[in-house]
Order: sequence, then structure tokens, then C-alpha cells
Amino acid sequence: MVATFVPSRPGVVTETHINLTGNWVAAVSMNDGTFRRSYFNLLQHGDTITGTIRTTQFFYDIVESSWDSAGFRIVGAMKDGATVRRQEFRGRLVGDSLHLLPIRQPAPAAPAAGARATTAANTSAASRPQPELVAHRAPRGEGALPSKITLPARHTVRDNGIARTPAMGWNSWNKFAGRVTDADVRAMADAMVSNGMRDAGYVYVNIDDTWEGDKRDSLGNITSNSKFPDMKALADYVHSKGLKLGIYSSPGPTTCAGYIGSYGHEAQDAKTFAEWGIDYLKYDWCGARMLHRDEDMPALYQIMGDALLATGRPIVYSLCQYGRLDVWKWGADVGGNSWRTTGDIKDTWESMANIGFRQDVVAPYAKPGHFNDPDMLEIGNGGMTADEYRTHMSLWSMLAAPLLAGNDLRTMSLETLAILTNKDVIRVDQDPLGKQATRALVSPDSASVRQEIWTRPLANGAWAVAAFNRGLDSAAVEIDFAALHINTRGVPVRDLWAHRRVRVQDNKYTVTIPSHGVVMLRVGR
Ligand code: GLA
Repeated sequence: MVATFVPSRPGVVTETHINLTGNWVAAVSMNDGTFRRSYFNLLQHGDTITGTIRTTQFFYDIVESSWDSAGFRIVGAMKDGATVRRQEFRGRLVGDSLHLLPIRQPAPAAPAAGARATTAANTSAASRPQPELVAHRAPRGEGALPSKITLPARHTVRDNGIARTPAMGWNSWNKFAGRVTDADVRAMADAMVSNGMRDAGYVYVNIDDTWEGDKRDSLGNITSNSKFPDMKALADYVHSKGLKLGIYSSPGPTTCAGYIGSYGHEAQDAKTFAEWGIDYLKYDWCGARMLHRDEDMPALYQIMGDALLATGRPIVYSLCQYGRLDVWKWGADVGGNSWRTTGDIKDTWESMANIGFRQDVVAPYAKPGHFNDPDMLEIGNGGMTADEYRTHMSLWSMLAAPLLAGNDLRTMSLETLAILTNKDVIRVDQDPLGKQATRALVSPDSASVRQEIWTRPLANGAWAVAAFNRGLDSAAVEIDFAALHINTRGVPVRDLWAHRRVRVQDNKYTVTIPSHGVVMLRVGR
């Protein structure tokens, strides 16, 4: 029996008047024909509330509860990799419904592992103010987690033979996030053809999270939501433009944004994707953390690696688990063509530089068909200067990173287009040797005058050399090729942004580089 709160003493609510025990669901319309459902499975003993909270990608155990004159407070905790996430709600009963206000939590500290750039995904979403949820009583068992699947024995997934050079294309997330629609994807495909991006090598048009439905059909098939009425028709359209279509799913029961994931339906979903004509899958860990620890990542990624191969369709397999568990050591073995090495990039110099300049430690793991992925491009999204975006493009190309533009291709400036389509820089990214650059030299470490020179061996004995000025003032940088063990005698040296040959004297080249800018050279043909 549910009744309203009646405090017996100020600050205390007697349990005789209320009993929150039961399963509660709050359904929020996503305006795409789906609902995001959060479940509060509560057990009340006296003043103590225990139980679980399931919301989007999270499943918390309630570890704290208390009452005051306004109602109650519950705190959920969830172990996620090396961190414990907490989520607090303030609750009160209003009639028969439970009003629950999520309280902002500080983002959990990043676990210090591997490349040190392994913050969990979507922490920024956790710090945004969230609206109050209104929950109603739901049948027992609704919203329960699926039973755990049996993990397969580990084996090496056969190389799919594609993506010998890093994938190039566009992805919806950085600009559109949850708003992306079928019409946007078609418009990006159109733009990629008309603005020359396709001809510069950008062929994958990738739909990120939020295309999915909130439940499977009666046969267990994955469904799309009303923003994507017909995936096969969309794939046909994209293919008709000489482009390829990418999609997104999760090894967990839900995606980061709380839509259906592929857990327990991996083979079925791979088959569906192949039938739709999908050419690329980004497989994002998020929801899997509700049921599995990081140690299970290789096995869960292997399941989808095998499932994609079994379809017989060439599908690029892109792992996204934020660089946890040293993925660079096992990503290729589970069939990955690339694996994210970091948490999510943001459209700021700090975010881009923090990620990009830390990638040297994972360089040994890049090889044709299997690349480190420091996340998608922010070029053209407005948060950085043109020099900073040139650094972004240069650094990612030095790193043999996938080049997935993340801006609105319909409205970008000519300057942005020129950065994205610099053929000389792209040629470095796409070099068939598939080796990743490493940091060769760094100026005496001072935050205000930090200069770095990175080198990348290219096919046929050529080299790419990039000098970065991370300092706050423009600086004259001397590139001493002897110190880099690169011979320039009798070989052309070309500035890939100025598009001209440069004169090297005594095996040295001195050039002024603006703050946060870059000079990128190709030594050899
Ligand atoms: C995670 C990923 C992002 C994006 C979002 C979508 O945060 O790291 O790249 O795919 O999920 O929800």
C-alpha cells in the first residue's frame, strides 16, 4: 500500500506510512518512437532502502539511503574497470508515482593504465544536469538484466583481410550525437561526393549510437528507431554514391545511450547488419559493464569478430572500449581492424593534444589491417583554431589513425575542407607500410615552449617528419635530420601544408611554427 510521506518528527519519515518496496520504471520518450527506461528495484526495511538501479548503460547496487522531511535519498554504486561510479537520487512519492532527481556526481578519476588516456566514455554526459524522472510501479522482473552468456574459449580470429590502411570516412557522433537521422546520413553522403572527400579517400559513412530501437522484434531481431525507418534502403543509397555504410552496436545489453545492444544476439545481429549491407561496425563496450568485468572484454569482442566473419561480408571491425585492458595487445587477435586507445575526444586543444601526443607508447602495435584509434576527428567543429586543426590532422596521420571526420560536411568552410582533404597528409596516413610515428625529439620540458618532432617510416624508404609547437608563442624550430637518423641527401623534402619543396642545408631545416601549429614534411618520394 502506497501513501504519502508523513514525517513523525521533523526530519524523519516513519516507515509505517510508506513502503517503496517493488519494481519501479521511469520511461522517458526519446522522440524517435523509443523510450529510455530506468528501473528502480527497491527493497525497504524500516528506513533502509536497498536494491538496484538500472539506467542506460549502468547497473548500480544501492549502497546508501537516508530520509529527511523532503523525502529520501539513495546512492547507487557500480564497479567499472578500476573505478567505482556512484549515482545519487533524491526521491519523493507524489500520489502513486515516485519522483527521482538524479544528483550530479563528480566524474570518476581516470584509471592510470597503458597510454594513461583511458578515461571511461561519456563522463561528460554524467556531469550534465538531468531532469527529474517519474517512475511508476512495474511488474516484477521487468527490466532485469539478461542472464550471463557463456564466454567462449579464446582463439585467434582469422584476419578479415580488409582495412589494410586506416579507415577513412565520417561518423555522426561528434557533431550530431543523439540527433542523427537518416536524412542527415544521406546528406553527408551527398556532401562527400560533391565536395571531393570521397575522391580524397573518405568512403565510410558511419552512423554512431542512437539509431537503434528500444526492443527487439518478436523473432529477436535488432530494430531501428523512427529516425532510421529503413536501414537497407539507406545502405543502398549510400552504396549508390560509391560510399560504404557503417553502424554501431555494443557487446552489452544496451548501448551507451541506452538503446538495444547485441548481447546474446551477436550472430543474429551480424547477419542482420550484413543483410542490410553494412560495411563497418563500431562495437562500443558501455552497456557490457553491467554484466562483465574488463577481463571479459577479449572474449566478448571475439564473439562479434567471429560473427562478422561468418556473415561472409567484408565488414570493418572497430573496437571501442576506451583503451582499457591494454587492448592494443589483443585487439588484432579478436579480429579488430582498429581499437580505441582513449576515452572520448572533445573539440578542444587540451583534449586533442592530451590524447594525440600520448600515443607513442602504443606505436609498436599498429600494422596493416590493425590500427590504434585515438578517436574521431573534431576538425571543423569550431572549438579549435585552424592551426590546431592542422595539428590534429597531421598528428592523426602520423599515428596511422582512422580518419573519421566528425563535423557537418554540408556547412563546413573551405579552410576546413582543405584541412580534411590535404592529399599529401592523407597519403602519409594511408601509407601501405602501416607503421605508426613515434616521438623522436622533445624540447626541454617547459609548458610554454614545448616542441616535439615525430617521425614515421614510410614505404620505399621515405619518411614523414612532423614538428609540433605545443607552446604558447610561435617558435623557430630546427629540424636536424642527422639527429633523426634520416638522410636527406639527394632526396626531395616537401612541406605537406605549404605544398612546396623546402631547402635543406647541412641536413637541417629551420622553420617558424605558430603556437599550436605544425610543419609536416615528407622526405623522399
Ligand atoms: C561512447 C563512445 C563514443 C560514442 C558514444 C555514443 O562514449 O566512446 O565514441 O560512440 O559512446 O553513445
